[in-house]
Amino acid sequence: MNEIKFYNGENIPLELHKVRVVQKLHLVPIERRLEALQEGGFNTFRLNTKDVFLDMLTDSGTNAMSDNQMAAMMQADDAYAGSQSFFRLQKAVEDVLAKKYYLPVHQGRAAENILSNAYVRKGNLVPMNYHFTTAMAHITQYGGKIAELLYDEAYVIDSSHPFKGNMNIEKLEEIIKIHGAKNIPFIRMEASTNLIGGQPFSVQNLRDVRAVADKYNIRLVLDASLLGENAYLVKQREEEFKEDSMGAILQTMTGLADIVYFSARKLSSSRGGGICTDNLDIYRELEALVPLFEGFLTYGGISVREIEAMAVGLYETLDETMISQSPAFIAYLVNALDAKGVPMIKPAGVLGAHVDAMQVCEHISQKEYPAGSLAAALYLISGIRGMERGSISNQRDEYGNETFADMELVRLAIPRRVFTLSQIKYVEDRMNWLYENRKLIGGLRFVYEPPVLRFFMGGLEPVSDWPQKLIAKFKEDFGESL
Ligand SMILES: Cc1ncc(COP(=O)(O)O)c(C=O)c1O
Repeated sequence: MNEIKFYNGENIPLELHKVRVVQKLHLVPIERRLEALQEGGFNTFRLNTKDVFLDMLTDSGTNAMSDNQMAAMMQADDAYAGSQSFFRLQKAVEDVLAKKYYLPVHQGRAAENILSNAYVRKGNLVPMNYHFTTAMAHITQYGGKIAELLYDEAYVIDSSHPFKGNMNIEKLEEIIKIHGAKNIPFIRMEASTNLIGGQPFSVQNLRDVRAVADKYNIRLVLDASLLGENAYLVKQREEEFKEDSMGAILQTMTGLADIVYFSARKLSSSRGGGICTDNLDIYRELEALVPLFEGFLTYGGISVREIEAMAVGLYETLDETMISQSPAFIAYLVNALDAKGVPMIKPAGVLGAHVDAMQVCEHISQKEYPAGSLAAALYLISGIRGMERGSISNQRDEYGNETFADMELVRLAIPRRVFTLSQIKYVEDRMNWLYENRKLIGGLRFVYEPPVLRFFMGGLEPVSDWPQKLIAKFKEDFGESL
């Protein structure tokens, strides 16, 4: 893809699409935003979108759809069994991901449930580059444990390492020797590793993992939910692939895995998910679980309209102008905030810009959830909804003890082709202001803590009257401005 230069030398991302369907947004007054937080237990998952201005919670199911995806939805073939929509999707999976056998599931975590049900037994260990919340929850539900095997550089916030999502190969071998290959049902590699700031792994690293998997005869599972962006960053950052097409890179990666699963909410800007493989035995092992948990094998809990959108969306991941838009906006925001001293995960990754709440809120102990506090404070002063990716998103250990996260991040997701540059500039402006006033942010404590995936529906409250103090300072600086 050719770079487009501005004559005035400005370095800003240029949108290579036009907006044809719009949704009106509302920026409600700060007093209402405080009420909304109180009603939602200071948990941004529990906010109602009528109170949200820029929804940067996630890219999951929120990427803009293309005209061709919407058009395809109109030709969906409603049938319980043997729908033509399914066969179009099956062909798209084969064309784009180069896997022969495809099992549809209603979203990514459903694939994780099926894989864990089929392969994870009590006492098993699943090595992975890093956990994702739902992947870990399913593995532990079936009695397994996880081992996270990133290199140390993955935890360095201010870094220029191109592939922080790489798996530590030496540690992988070590752990296999300690636990025994027979206790390891699969190795899981997550593309564009979500919880460390959307950081990719290199193809070479995946090859090295494959070599270890082969040596010990262990299945290699690729979580491809963010594979398009990982492939795009491989093209940007890994010399060997500079001249390759997106399709060639994607297929090099999927070709190294025995099983590829994904959330289509991310991968193909639709709904749905899937598991695919070239191995007929694996397909047969998993096949029976789809009708049990999801639905018949030609829809797997996904509406036929979404199946059509998914097929088109998969082909569109091959389009560099589409796949580069979100990373380009993320890089813009990360670099702009970094220039003002706001601690950001670097290098800029995919999915969103990630603020290091451990540094911004260094005065808040992990026991009082710095990332949750920062996410609540940012919503309060701006109407921007980010997501806590820190200790609230962690699960307690088997004895019920709190486990503190390696990183306390607030993720500001930038879904594909949703926001304009002036909206991103608003995020930059309000985040800068909050950084300057960071000492006014205080901690949170749980008042309602669900036993599983507590971050989704948990309720918290501020430990002091810090929200009121933040509002007073906001009024001083912004007057009557929203
Ligand atoms: C890397 C990764 N894997 C799995 C999932 C789970 O997918 P879903 O939300 O569709 O269940 C997600 C969702 O965000 C994800 O980011």
